[in-house]
Parts: sequence; structure tokens; C-alpha cells
Amino acid sequence: MRAIVLMCLLHAAIAIEPTYPWNGIGGQTPSPFPNTGGACATDEGSCRCCVMLKEINRLRTYFNTTMNNLEKEYSQTAQSLDNIEASYTAVSVALFNEFKCLGPNPYNTIVIYKHVFINLGNGYSVDTGIFTVPRSGVYSLALTVYSDSGSPGSKLAACAGLLLNGQLVAATREINMEDQEDSATIVVALHLTAGDKVAVNLPIGCFLCDDSSHYNTFSAFLLYPE
Ligand SMILES: *[C@@H]1O[C@H](CO)[C@@H](O)[C@H](O)[C@H]1NC(C)=O
Repeated sequence: MRAIVLMCLLHAAIAIEPTYPWNGIGGQTPSPFPNTGGACATDEGSCRCCVMLKEINRLRTYFNTTMNNLEKEYSQTAQSLDNIEASYTAVSVALFNEFKCLGPNPYNTIVIYKHVFINLGNGYSVDTGIFTVPRSGVYSLALTVYSDSGSPGSKLAACAGLLLNGQLVAATREINMEDQEDSATIVVALHLTAGDKVAVNLPIGCFLCDDSSHYNTFSAFLLYPE
């Protein structure tokens, strides 16, 4: 019987994919080891061996199931990471690189920011000044305007409006004859839909001045993608 037990253990040790039709003591299924027929009933060693095989089989199923679940969760996690990476959106631009003023004009104009710090997601167009929302979600939008009248007492009009699909969301306004320079800032969080168009309007009579210090900036960050 020792030889049978040994054989049985060897089989258990090297088994990778066999099926074990063992149904427990008294089961109708034929033993996988022809020589052990009936041995289990009488031989304690064989019996332990069979219990062990059953346990190995149970563990194999357990690990297989666990592994399958982990693989599934891993691929779901990898997928959502890919989605997050694909949604990266960050735009930050400034008006000019050299000293120059935009406006005043007798009509509303879109401010075209020419200096691009970052345009992750390619939503911003340096030709039109429009940020086209690449992906729906909650965005942080910010703009700072600055103007220089040239001399104290000259008219200063540092003003601009944040537009969403042509509609005013928020505006800044610093118009006076007292000082020479002014700046103002807008920061808002908005829920935007893919395809929405965000831009900065320069109202009639307003003018912005910039140089390489980048006093006029416009930024859009995706905080939470959908
Ligand atoms: C492990 O799980 C896979 C997927 O469910 C199944 O196809 C395979 O037969 C299983 N293997 C074992 C040894 O249970």
C-alpha cells in the first residue's frame, strides 16, 4: 500500500490540470487510480491521500477563481486609468510676448491669446482664441486682464468678459481716469459639455496691454471628467 500512497502523492505533486472525479468515500465515480479501488475503505494511507487530493482540488478552484477576479478588476482599473489619461485637459495662454495693446475697438472682439503655455488636449485655438471643450466635466476657468493707459489721467479701460457659447458668464471692469494701470481677475468653476466654446470678449472701448511678463492670462483646467 505504501507504493500506492506514494504514487498518489506523486500524482498530486505534479498534477497541473487533471480533473479529479473523486466524490468522497463511497462515491460512485471510479477512482482516478485504478490500483486504489477499494483501498480507501481499508487503507488509512490511501484515504488521507484522497482527502488531500480533494483539498488540492478545492484550493485550485479557489485560486483560479481569485485569479480570474483579480484579472478582471485589474483590466477594469487599467481601462479607467486609460480614460483618465485620455481626458487630460489643461489650457493656459497669455496675450502677447512683446509689449502691445489690444483695442480699444468700436465693436466687441474675441481676445486671441497668442502665447501658449500649455494646450493639453488641444482644445485651444491660437487662430480664433476659442477654447472648444474636448470632454464634458467640471472645469476651472480663469482670466486676468491688465491694461496700461500710457500716462496718468488718460482713459484706462481694463475690461473683459468670459463667454460660454457666446453668452456672458462673468466680467471684469476697471474704467477710470485716475491711475495708469489696472488689472482684474475672474475665476469660476463651470460644468461644461464637450463641444462648448469658451472665449474671452473684449467689449467696445476696452483695451488690454501685455508684454513678456504675461499680465493677461486665460486658463481652463478639467477638474472632474465625466
Ligand atoms: C479557471 O477559470 C477559467 C475561467 O473561468 C476556466 O476556463 C478554467 O477552466 C478554470 N481552470 C480550472 C483548473 O478550474
